[in-house]
Amino acid sequence: MAVLLSVLYLLLFDPARLFRNPAPDFSHLASHCAHVQPIPADSFVARQDTLARTLHELGAAAYIAEPGANAAFYANLSGSAWHLSERPLLFILTPSVDDNNRIVANISVLTPSFEATRAKLLPLPSAADVTYPEWPEDADPYQVAVSAIPGLKSGTIFIDGAMRTFVADGLQKAVGGGHKVVSAPVEVKRLRERKSTEEIEIMKCANEVTLLSIRAAAEEMYIGIHESEARALVANALTSAGLKDVSVISLFGPNAALPHGSGTDRTLAKEDFVLVDCGGSLHGYVSDVTRTFALEDSRIPAEHLDIWMLVWEAQGIALATAFNGTITADVDRAARVTIETGGYGEYFTHRLGHGIGLEGHESPYLRGGSDDIILTGHSFSDEPGVYIEGKVGVRLEDCFYIDENGRPVLLTAGVGAPSTTPWDI
Ligand SMILES: *[C@@H]1O[C@H](CO)[C@@H](O)[C@H](O)[C@H]1NC(C)=O
Ligand SMILES: *[C@@H]1O[C@H](CO)[C@@H](O)[C@H](O)[C@H]1NC(C)=O
Ligand SMILES: *[C@@H]1O[C@H](CO)[C@@H](O)[C@H](O)[C@H]1NC(C)=O
Repeated sequence: MAVLLSVLYLLLFDPARLFRNPAPDFSHLASHCAHVQPIPADSFVARQDTLARTLHELGAAAYIAEPGANAAFYANLSGSAWHLSERPLLFILTPSVDDNNRIVANISVLTPSFEATRAKLLPLPSAADVTYPEWPEDADPYQVAVSAIPGLKSGTIFIDGAMRTFVADGLQKAVGGGHKVVSAPVEVKRLRERKSTEEIEIMKCANEVTLLSIRAAAEEMYIGIHESEARALVANALTSAGLKDVSVISLFGPNAALPHGSGTDRTLAKEDFVLVDCGGSLHGYVSDVTRTFALEDSRIPAEHLDIWMLVWEAQGIALATAFNGTITADVDRAARVTIETGGYGEYFTHRLGHGIGLEGHESPYLRGGSDDIILTGHSFSDEPGVYIEGKVGVRLEDCFYIDENGRPVLLTAGVGAPSTTPWDI
């Protein structure tokens, strides 16, 4: 009886739901990136040697990072491989001269004594043996770290800009006033900011399959679906595609005017755009794609369609200004002028884009007030938006990189991006 009643209810009030596939199969997405290889050990070693040479050129004695994006880049030591706690574990790289007079990297990992065995199990690529200076619970870990830096007489120690303050303070105290412990400068930061061909191949596939996931999930959406159900569809597609650490924002109609969400669980009306902003990671590299789109049965107000076209135009114009040598603020400006000229300048409330790679948001950024220079290998999101509270929100986002000829290329180009109408995701 209860089943009969609920079928009757659905037939009367929500017929679309009755004919939906309750568990759509997205397994076809799994093959898209199956051929993409993770970063091999010798690339890590090459990164370490490049960092060693850069430290040598800049007169720095060492580079020190906590587990996180930078340690993941140089030593495969991510924040998920080793979670941060009150006990510091530090990646320490020092430059040294080998028998052929080349500058090479020496790696040590400062390790809490009682976890030394676990630390030594970390898959940490290195040309030579890694040393594991241990600090017992009652010792000063920073003294132990500093004594592991060979020949530390003078000079600067560069630290990961994301290092926690108490760790940086501890290091500064341990080295004393004769040394400086400072955040690594742009010459060091660029080593990770500028992606290699290997990294770009991973990022392309991650972004492509993210867009394919939005398309596959959109096929299953209908007027009357909840934001939470749409989010689950996209998350399911991304996971089926093999991406890790998946994140999804799905917002309908006026809810999309709050760029990071609203807290309600709106049902999709015919007049509503669907905004999906999502990503996941492939071999540690993060993807990020946003689409604002309409379903076949949608009846989008004309003004909202005009806004969509304006955002689309801004996205394309910004991309076409981003070359090797361009100042990041100028790319933001190009998008902003387009939206201002269209009459919606005050509703484009955020920066145009962020760098992307091992972190979802990383330096450099495409924003006013920044004078960073765009170089080959840099990768960014290009995501203009218009947000009119209580009314409508439109954002379109594809990531791009600067190729070896200095030109911008969308990471989603391989699957037909950018979209050209709200019905063509
Ligand atoms: C990097 O670490 C991951 C696990 O965190 C491991 O699967 C992979 O093999 C490691 N890579 C190298 C080159 O050691
Ligand atoms: C430093 O690394 C080189 C090669 O990468 C190695 O030959 C040398 O033994 C290392 N030195 C120390 C002190 O670990
Ligand atoms: C990119 O710009 C830098 C500095 O402006 C220049 O040295 C380099 O040759 C340029 N590379 C390409 C591929 O245009």
